[in-house]
Amino acid sequence: MTGRIYHEFSELIGNTPLLELHRIRKARGLGTRLLAKIEYLSPAGSIKDRAAWGIIRDGERSGQLKPGDLLVDVTSGNTGIGLAAVAAARGYRAKFYLRNIIAQEKLAILAHYGAEVVLVDSAEFTGPGAVDRVLARIRAENPGAFFTDQRGNPANPNIHEETTGPEIWRDTDGAVDVLVACVGTGGTISGAGRFLKAQKTGVRVVVAEPTPDALPSAEDPYAENIEGVHKVSEIDRADLPSNYDGGVVDEVIAVNVAQAKAGALAFAREEGVLAGTSGGAVLHAALTLALRPEFAGKTIVTIVPDSGERYLSPPTRAGLQAKPAAARREEVLETVLAPAE
Ligand SMILES: Cc1ncc(COP(=O)(O)O)c(C=O)c1O
Repeated sequence: MTGRIYHEFSELIGNTPLLELHRIRKARGLGTRLLAKIEYLSPAGSIKDRAAWGIIRDGERSGQLKPGDLLVDVTSGNTGIGLAAVAAARGYRAKFYLRNIIAQEKLAILAHYGAEVVLVDSAEFTGPGAVDRVLARIRAENPGAFFTDQRGNPANPNIHEETTGPEIWRDTDGAVDVLVACVGTGGTISGAGRFLKAQKTGVRVVVAEPTPDALPSAEDPYAENIEGVHKVSEIDRADLPSNYDGGVVDEVIAVNVAQAKAGALAFAREEGVLAGTSGGAVLHAALTLALRPEFAGKTIVTIVPDSGERYLSPPTRAGLQAKPAAARREEVLETVLAPAE
């Protein structure tokens, strides 16, 4: 008998399945093979479990992370959830700073894991240098904490180069022509893209980025957005996370909220895949490519970072879209879930 018992939570991370999207392809008469890597099947529900494990493993190996330490970062939820899960399994505490426009489910999950949550007004995150200012505040407020630094910690892209890229290569038997993903920190696209490009010349790496109206901005800090993902084109280098390696990216396709939601619905209703909105954005970009004659007969791998289950409830900005930004701000602050005790 060959049993298979896992002895440590981190062993459950990775090796997510690659699913062929037959019905989506056939319904659109496409000659391109579409595959989806289903990252919501990871144990804490998103691709960010990989980054969380990579960062914690690296901190332990370097001796910077000590038993009982407090992990701190700014997150749009998924990294926080991944870190909170690994922290629970390995005896660390966790505290995260999130925008106050956030899926309610993510807040509830973080509270359930026992992580401390600090909600930051979304307006504080907008404008040049804003993220760095929030990060400086976090460092100042948490002396002695282990700052996981998902935007700059090389352990994040490195784990994708070590796991995500090789899994795609292995599971396609090397028959991968295009990788399409969204960028939050850039960990996924940079690490997996780097690995795939090193295996085979000609692999194309494509980013699905939000259109400007699909992002909170200085004019509209509470805009409906594709949670967790950022623009990479026409952005000051200083405002891009250092984990984003633009050198591996061949093309950027802009996707708006309606297109991302339509992509998520196509995933759910045509393939049974309950993708979150960023996965929907990735599918929209992949379909844009598949319609081009040059991609006939090619294989496109899409990344589904998390589950649509995280976005089923109205987000903390529910019902606020039609109101002016100032009025929305008040309501957002009233409607957010209370931080964890
Ligand atoms: C929902 C969602 N999709 C995609 C991403 C992009 O992942 P990465 O940080 O590896 O670029 C993130 C990251 O925050 C995310 O939360």
